[in-house]
Amino acid sequence: MKVGILTGGGDCPGLNSAIRLVVKRLIHEHDAQVYGFLDGFRGVIEQDYKVLDFDSVSNILDRGGTILGTSNKYNPFRVYTKDGVQDKSDEAVRYLDKLGIECLFTVGGDGTQTIAAEMARKGVPVVGIPKTIDNDLVGTEFAIGFKTAAAFVADAVMRVRSTAESHHRILVVETMGRYAGWLAMYGGAASGADVILIPEIPYKLEKVADFVAARAKKGRKYSIVVVSEGVKSVTGKRVVRRVVNDSPEPLRLGGIGDHIANELEDMTGIEARVTVLGHLQRGGRPLPEDRLLASRLAFHAVDLFLDGKTGLMVAVQNGDITEVSMEVPHGKQRFVTMDDPVFKMERSIGTCFGY
Ligand code: F6P
Repeated sequence: MKVGILTGGGDCPGLNSAIRLVVKRLIHEHDAQVYGFLDGFRGVIEQDYKVLDFDSVSNILDRGGTILGTSNKYNPFRVYTKDGVQDKSDEAVRYLDKLGIECLFTVGGDGTQTIAAEMARKGVPVVGIPKTIDNDLVGTEFAIGFKTAAAFVADAVMRVRSTAESHHRILVVETMGRYAGWLAMYGGAASGADVILIPEIPYKLEKVADFVAARAKKGRKYSIVVVSEGVKSVTGKRVVRRVVNDSPEPLRLGGIGDHIANELEDMTGIEARVTVLGHLQRGGRPLPEDRLLASRLAFHAVDLFLDGKTGLMVAVQNGDITEVSMEVPHGKQRFVTMDDPVFKMERSIGTCFGY
């Protein structure tokens, strides 16, 4: 038995837990040969892999990052070469076939699973395993890494709260999350943020300023504003930190926190500071909850392969581990809706969403 595994897109805590389970189970139960492709699809395009044995995945259950490396640049359908952009997907398919790969486990977010779905259309047997701190993959309620990242956001907010209170300041905390507000909303809800701004709801700064000023009037002279990097105001645009041209997803967001802090200070007369959490949200050990989720998802992914079922992504639905067609997350993103239970819960206690 020969299988491949790769981790693609931005890293997150819990990737190694998933790799470990796939490798250990398939070796333990089936004496399989497991090829770990390096740096996501780069390893498939450039035929770069290492064979993973039992020892190579020992002691990695709680290690941050990914032992296989990752990349959010390589896509076999759009390879940037010195002669321009080329489609090397047929080459990749032939290569996997030649190696005798019976299943390719793709641990990744929407970019990776979209590529995996297209490889599946070309006949490659794939099983996707969802990961992303953004939690924006369609088809699954939770992805590996999200809960650890949200816990980090919550911890960071709790830390800035005490200094905000001592100095009677507005403290703006900027999170990642791309175009979805899950990370800001869960992190903010778990830390009692006063204001949570998410991309799904265009914000009005006047509403936020009024809310902060009203708190100050009532004696609470500090406020915590959690803002997702992808937000935009009712009139404004998103703030883009950089453009990565050779990436399938070229825009890198970030920087909105400064703008919001400056404007709020001007509008309320209350001193404001900003903390940008950045890549700290992606690093470090996965929480036990994420280690378990990653292991359970990987276990189910192996089950599917052993049952001869591919072209699927494992998923969490209604709290259970299940699977969906790879076509479900293909090219889409999952957003916070107004009927989300956490959103409704926050609204019920008057948390300001800037509208
Ligand atoms: O998708 C995960 C993520 O961390 C986003 O939240 C963020 O916008 C982006 O990746 C950052 O990408 P990079 O690692 O290229 O800076």
